[in-house]
Amino acid sequence: MCGIVGYVGPKNVSEVLIGGLERLEYRGYDSAGVALMPHSKEDVLIKRCVGRVSALKDALKSVTGDFAQGIAHTRWATHGVPSEVNAHPHKAGRTFLVHNGIIENYLEIKEELQRQGQEFESQTDTEVFAHLIENIRYKLLAGRDFESLSLPEKISNVLESLKIGTQKVEGHYAILVMVAGLEGHLFGVQAGAPLVAGKLTDSLYIGSDLQALLPHLSDMHFLPAKTIFAGQINHLDFYDFDLKKKEIPMSRIDWSPDKIAKGGFDHFMLKEIFEQPSVVADTLSGRLPTEELGFLWDDLEKHKDLWKNVDRLHFVACGTAYYAALTAKYFFEKWARIPVEVDLASEFRYRNPVFTQNTVVGVVSQSGETADTLAALRLALDEKVKTFAVCNVPGSSISREANVNYQTKAGPEIGVASTKAFSTQLAILSALAQDVARMRGTLVNWQNEAESLARVPLLLEQVLTQSKTYLDMGASLERFKTILVVGRGLMYPISLEGALKIKEISYRHAEGYAAGELKHGPIALIDSSTCAIVLNPKDDVSAKTLSNLQEIKARSGWIIGLGVEKHDAFRKECNEYLALPEADWALSPMLYVVPLQLMAYGLAKQLGCDIDKPRNLAKSVTVE
Ligand code: F6R
Repeated sequence: MCGIVGYVGPKNVSEVLIGGLERLEYRGYDSAGVALMPHSKEDVLIKRCVGRVSALKDALKSVTGDFAQGIAHTRWATHGVPSEVNAHPHKAGRTFLVHNGIIENYLEIKEELQRQGQEFESQTDTEVFAHLIENIRYKLLAGRDFESLSLPEKISNVLESLKIGTQKVEGHYAILVMVAGLEGHLFGVQAGAPLVAGKLTDSLYIGSDLQALLPHLSDMHFLPAKTIFAGQINHLDFYDFDLKKKEIPMSRIDWSPDKIAKGGFDHFMLKEIFEQPSVVADTLSGRLPTEELGFLWDDLEKHKDLWKNVDRLHFVACGTAYYAALTAKYFFEKWARIPVEVDLASEFRYRNPVFTQNTVVGVVSQSGETADTLAALRLALDEKVKTFAVCNVPGSSISREANVNYQTKAGPEIGVASTKAFSTQLAILSALAQDVARMRGTLVNWQNEAESLARVPLLLEQVLTQSKTYLDMGASLERFKTILVVGRGLMYPISLEGALKIKEISYRHAEGYAAGELKHGPIALIDSSTCAIVLNPKDDVSAKTLSNLQEIKARSGWIIGLGVEKHDAFRKECNEYLALPEADWALSPMLYVVPLQLMAYGLAKQLGCDIDKPRNLAKSVTVE
């Protein structure tokens, strides 16, 4: 949560920073700010605004000056309401600081600093961190004037203060620091929240995500946890928390900058829904078996070692990624005959899970930085359990730390509501389940299943030709107080995902339910103000779903059916019917989620909601 950008170089500093913040705005958008350091010895200028980055951009129009560098931040409030005074950057003496994450012991540190006479203007943990660093830095000077120090002495003064500061602070965070009187330099700490750094011969770029850097450079350093850095134009030094130098390799990112533009669509979410055929194809490409070769994974040896002797699979994830894992449970159990548990990461990490000797833990995450999912992965790694990740963002913490990473190729997902990442997660998890089943000898016709999976991009294209119908149907949901999405089997996790999409972007009350569970409580919600979207792809539980539909109908619920063209028994019971292409059992989740995404979008648009930036949300949840 929150976005960080830093820049040193010859370009227009505020333009670079604002451009970076705009690309990171999906991480948080309740206030934003910049600190700009002039080339002259004039004071560093701070501008902060409540609201979107666009408000900050407007405020900066009146700012003139020749700036050498700056740091910037877009906030998702944790400590302190969204207000100008709580917005970052925070200033303490010479220290200017922006921060992501949480300082758990900030009150303790604040009280200690207050006892020494320090006053605070905000309610944030960030301001406390800024004062802590400044306090330490000042004491380390032992009466000497900072300006009189040589350049290496100045750098060492700042680095030492960061070292001591990080020893005092508890929590998972990242900070970016600029020090007045040290033009051309930026410093920072990665202590559990992401930081990415890159340089060119005339510039230095820092960001909390690769999107901040993407239009400027494609070679970047993804800082691992427990890293302090000192950067300047064309030079970056990395240290551990004892200030011992360390090397961090550079990663090449092949995400093209046009992927982070809306490309003519009204919203990123809509663009990303339409990208699904191509990103699913990219994710499967080169991995599905040919006649001569089996499934091809990036590191085949590690892949084989991971699944050798597996007797239990434990998936852990949050939100949409959790629903992808829940869907994968059906694939793994049916094909590979492995017992599968699926946990929400925020529960798993605190409940002392039981692992067998051959348990495999799989975490699913678009961002690769979700705090609870990362903590769950680390818990499994600490227990010496074999782990894998299904992760989208290259270089992210989860993709680096898992024993094996199966990368989805959704490209940058900017819309806060996850769409294309979900489809690619389903595609890769399906292929993986087939391959594990092949290795275990539990799926004889794995080639047929793989061939069927290869048809998904084409089928998705077909589904998207009906997009206007789904969007209009979504807009028509405006008249209902409650929207239920129900299905059985593979359609159960898809109903949960469909309901999540509706509630997060349209703020309408929606619930996903296993169709057979309705009568155990939620059926009490149903009256004529309820719409039930029934997912029923004519599979082996179809007849059961039809009985549940009758229960809804008998209570005056309005029924929208999603099923195949030729399914009269279903169609005739629905008030409205949306036909989808016929497809094999395992493909239905990827096809049926698309109309739900579009209906959620259509409803949110009808209600005038801010679709790419829903209230109270941030894309990457890097706090617990
Ligand atoms: C919903 C959504 C969230 C994320 C969840 C996990 O549309 O985007 O529910 O799926 O926060 O995020 P990742 O996948 O980045 O771990």
